[in-house]
This record gives sequence, structure tokens and C-alpha cells, in this order.
Amino acid sequence: MARDPAYQRFDVIPLTGALGAEIRGADLANDRDPALVAEVRRALDQYLVLAIRGQKFDVQRYHEAARRFGPFSGNPVHVPLDGYDDIVKFVREPSDTDNVIGDHWHMDLAWMDPPPGIVMLYGESVPPYGGDTCFTSLVQAYKALSPGMKEMLQRLTGIHSARGVYSINAKSKRLGLSIDQEKLDAVEKEHPVICLQPNTGRRYLLVNSVLTRFKGMTEAESKPIVDYLFHHALRSEFQCRVRWEDGTLTMWNNPLVMHSAIDDYRGFRRVTYRTTVEGWAQIAAPPETNHSVTGQAA
Ligand SMILES: [Fe+2]
Repeated sequence: MARDPAYQRFDVIPLTGALGAEIRGADLANDRDPALVAEVRRALDQYLVLAIRGQKFDVQRYHEAARRFGPFSGNPVHVPLDGYDDIVKFVREPSDTDNVIGDHWHMDLAWMDPPPGIVMLYGESVPPYGGDTCFTSLVQAYKALSPGMKEMLQRLTGIHSARGVYSINAKSKRLGLSIDQEKLDAVEKEHPVICLQPNTGRRYLLVNSVLTRFKGMTEAESKPIVDYLFHHALRSEFQCRVRWEDGTLTMWNNPLVMHSAIDDYRGFRRVTYRTTVEGWAQIAAPPETNHSVTGQAA
């Protein structure tokens, strides 16, 4: 098992060559040292997705641990737990037959202003197998574009719409919704298409399932480019897959990845708790200076 020697407080075991790492030996419920949070943040900046094994949270400790990573982002859609505005409980019972929420490639709350920076999902009780979460790196997706495509996208602004988000969530009978459909369907947010990660200066391609068009263009005109970018971002060499265990806390750098839940665990119970950390206004990346549009595609 290859461990990353750059981390001393816990073991960091990369999941794939693209993104993701498993963390062993960190106890976020009991170790309140700010240096632990700083080290986890450093790993999250580098790997974008962390599966932190062996955590034991009650709701209060989960809330406290999450808030050490930053203030709650807000969540206008889901009804939170009593007494904890920042935590949503997702329960799927063995008898449930409705679709799993999030079983498509997406970014959480992409249409918020700003979208959450970190998403945390704690698996209190998960199936013995099935229910993995897949992730794809939008940093890798950006890197693999040709210089000409990067230059064209540099000039575009994406419109991210919440249209349809209500109906996706309303299909789950166990999820309370705190906003009405009409209001949510009307929400739109602009983000640059090529963005810069503030802490590392890395560029990423901000594409997801709610990118409906580019500013100044119609949906029909935008669709071929949006479709191309969406499928490009899902190349298998950009991905990793987190297998859950009871006590796994999965954290992801929300704007820099897309994720998808796998709906393959009917007959099993699954209980998870989600919270989110406030993000940042997406930053348009300046053009790269070290390439020429006449050069070969990367
Ligand atoms: Fe999600």
C-alpha cells in the first residue's frame, strides 16, 4: 500500500492516479488540535476527495468537527436535523424503491452564491457492499483539453440553473424540502468556465449537470459544447470511487469535482449525515501563457 510521505499526522493512501485518498489514523471527533484540521485541509487541496476511515461521531461532535473547517454554507433545499441547521440526515430503508438521491454526475448546490467549498458526508451505517460514490477530477479534465479549446472556453461564463433540482429531491419520500418548486426553479448563478483554485492556483473546468448555457448564447447553441465538456470530464482516467465503511467520513472539494451516487444497494439500510462548508466566489483563471494554439493537443 503506497502511503504519501508528505503527511505525518495520519496515513494518506492515494486511491487513483487522478484524485482521492484514504486517510487512516485521524480522529476528527476527539482530536481538536487545529494542526489536524490544517493537515486534512492540505490533503483535501491536493487530493480533492478524502475517505477518512474509522470516525465515531454523534451529531454534536460531527457538527463541531465540521465547523472547525469553516462556517456552514447554508442549504436552501433540505430540511435539517432538529437543533442542527447545518446537518441533513439521509436515510434509505431496505424497503425503499425510489431512486437514490444524487445518482447522476453533479456538483452539490452548484447554483448557490457561492456554492459550498467542502461537502462532508458521514456514513454512520452503510451497506456491506454497494452504494459507492464516484468522483471525477475537473482539474484533470481541464489539463486534458487542447490549447485551442482552453482559449475558447476562457472567454465563456456558464449559467448554472436550479431548474429541476426540486423535482429530483422531491422523489425521495424521506427528504424534507424547505423551499417551493417555483422559487427554486428560477434560481440561476453565473460561474466562469475555467476557474482557479484559490489555495493552489490550479485551474479546473467548472462543468456539471446544471450548467445549462453560456452567457450571451442560447441553450441550443450551448448544448453541443456543454455536452462535449460533460462527457470529456467523465473519462475513467479522471476518476476514483470511494467504497464506504461504517464510520467513513468522505470530504470533497465541491467545485473541483463532480460526483455520483451508485444506486446498487436495494434491500440494505444506509444512514448518512451531510454538512457543507462555505465556499468562495469562483475565480476566472487568467489565460495560460506557456502554450500556443497552433501546438499539438495535450
Ligand atoms: Fe451530491
